[in-house]
Amino acid sequence: MWHDTRILDLLGIEHPIIQAPMAGATNAELVQAVSNAGALGSFGAASTPPERLRSIVRAIREGTDRAFNVNLFSARTEEFDRSARPGAGVAERLTTYHGELGLGEVPEPKPMFGPAAEQLDILIAEGVPVISFHFGAEPEAVARAQEAGAKLLCSATTVAEARELEDAGVDGVIAQGAEAGGHRGTFAGDYRRALIGTLALVPQVVDAVSVPVIAAGGIMDGRGLVACLALGASAVQMGTAFLGSPETPIADAWRASLRTADAEATTVTEAISGKPARGIRNRYIDELEALEEPLLPYPAQYSVSRELRKAAVERGDTRFMAMWAGQGVALVRERPAAEIVTDLVEQSQRVLDRLNGL
Ligand SMILES: Cc1cc2nc3c(=O)[nH]c(=O)nc-3n(C[C@H](O)[C@H](O)[C@H](O)COP(=O)(O)O)c2cc1C
Repeated sequence: MWHDTRILDLLGIEHPIIQAPMAGATNAELVQAVSNAGALGSFGAASTPPERLRSIVRAIREGTDRAFNVNLFSARTEEFDRSARPGAGVAERLTTYHGELGLGEVPEPKPMFGPAAEQLDILIAEGVPVISFHFGAEPEAVARAQEAGAKLLCSATTVAEARELEDAGVDGVIAQGAEAGGHRGTFAGDYRRALIGTLALVPQVVDAVSVPVIAAGGIMDGRGLVACLALGASAVQMGTAFLGSPETPIADAWRASLRTADAEATTVTEAISGKPARGIRNRYIDELEALEEPLLPYPAQYSVSRELRKAAVERGDTRFMAMWAGQGVALVRERPAAEIVTDLVEQSQRVLDRLNGL
């Protein structure tokens, strides 16, 4: 039923659907369910230490012999000023929140992700079939992965970024529109200028690069999938829609928030990690944004609030959690991941039939 088979042939999958890698919100079970249903399951590994990553890759393989993807954050995001400390306003807020929850001292910044070079070594040693990057792709890392036989994908949020990725040698570009949940993949220039909607971004990226394009951002069902194919995308990458599956390992309170959130409930904020990301507004975001004081650089901002988030998750306290979700959140439906894939295929067929007057 799919006319453009470039991504299907490249990745060895049946349907042009990639379940987005979501660091902290994916596990072997989800990846297996999606890949076994004929789409591409993805594990978001940015925050997974290298040795644990090896066991997760092996665990994925125990439940599927199909292709799957593992995602890393670019190594270029790892360097940060270790001496950076929160300004007076941020420090006061964090101390207040820690006090309210009865937590100890606000922790000092420490690295949160990677090291990407070691994580990549593991993926290469384990022969992971598809590797994707967020926040840009170093040509050397792309070449290393490809020499080992992996296909390499990376997100772009502008036409210029897509061109840069093609020059770096990637096998496919994920065009991430502003609707998308989670971190903006922006790696070149001001993210505010890179908040381009999927409908506008995808055809411009398709025209600009010769590698296949994967559309991401706001795609929730067969209507969105077919629309993106009409724009010239060869496949879609969907994150928020898969938050509705029971396999997805997110906190119950986050899951409950997804049931009531609408598009206006989400915002792109730097308050949580120091990098722009779309999630459901809460007290933490509102109060930190109201400070009008520079936040710590990524990932220091993420790191100083880690104890707070951990406690919030344990207590089901959504006021201080990071609840990433895209603008399509009101369309999340709760059902098993394999069913999300089969429903998407059936819905797409119905949309295509309707457009063809059948
Ligand atoms: C909870 C969540 C976590 C995410 N984490 C990652 C990640 O670790 N790596 C990545 O490349 N993209 C990540 N993303 C972004 C997705 O790759 C994708 O761009 C996005 O989900 C597409 O928009 P949608 O959420 O509207 O489907 C995340 C998205 C969500 C919703």
